[in-house]
Amino acid sequence: MKDPKSDSAKLGHDFGIGTEKKRNGQMERKVYFVGAGPGNPKLITVLGREMLEKADLVIYAGSLVNPEILNYTKGKTVDSYGLTLEETTKMIADAVDLEKVVVRLHSGDPSLYGAIIEQMEELKKYDIRVERISGVSSVFASAVALGTQLTLNGISDTLIITRPAGKTMEKDLITELSAYNTTMAIFLGTQKIREIMEKVRCPKDTPAALIFHASWEDEKVITGTVGDIAEKVEDAGIMRSAMIIIGGVVNPINYRRSHLYGMAPKSL
Ligand SMILES: C[S@@+](CC[C@H](N)C(=O)[O-])C[C@H]1O[C@@H](n2cnc3c(N)ncnc32)[C@H](O)[C@@H]1O
Repeated sequence: MKDPKSDSAKLGHDFGIGTEKKRNGQMERKVYFVGAGPGNPKLITVLGREMLEKADLVIYAGSLVNPEILNYTKGKTVDSYGLTLEETTKMIADAVDLEKVVVRLHSGDPSLYGAIIEQMEELKKYDIRVERISGVSSVFASAVALGTQLTLNGISDTLIITRPAGKTMEKDLITELSAYNTTMAIFLGTQKIREIMEKVRCPKDTPAALIFHASWEDEKVITGTVGDIAEKVEDAGIMRSAMIIIGGVVNPINYRRSHLYGMAPKSL
């Protein structure tokens, strides 16, 4: 019978992460997919940083990974911007053939809009296994920049993470999802902010914000409402690399205390 644990060990966390295991006297054929975090070089995980220090080759998503993070590596660095999936895969495979330690560095956490499953499929063709190291998503750095929580008692207990339609997606669900009156975090939407605000079903005075480069030195936060945020963002000339947050949590007033503190353990 199949051991259920063997699958989870293959797909999930490998607690030997970062250790170069040898199989039949040969290095295991693997690549590390590392979340770089939202931008501030100190917001990469300890494990992620250790892998960068060990890496011989780092292929990074140039548009959103802060170049300062590359100071952690002495290896060769390649910006994947403009490279096809096949070209990136071949580059990884060639380095693995030479027993090099290879890191594929993604912004934030690779499991959000990171297109990693398709890379893993391609790498399988070269018999290369992927070990993943989580990162801090920009959605969490955006909450910090805003000085709020994404879920807040009495305002919203639900967070919807979504994105507008674009080159790689025909239709989005922003109108439908906005009817739930929850917190919405919208990735990849900076250039479409006017369109997004026109299609949401929330009242025009619903709080809304745009956070550019959360956690970077040039971080900018613009707050307003569904009715006026698009104009404010356009006036500020921000066109990319920003998170849109819609909902009462943007302006955290009239929330209810969580009662997490100061209670007898029995009633928790
Ligand atoms: C391809 S997605 C990658 C998201 C990433 N995996 C994450 O977890 O943050 C790129 C989008 O993430 C958002 N983003 C990434 N870094 C950001 C940052 N530092 N501040 C605000 N938004 C950011 C923007 O919406 C951007 O268009």
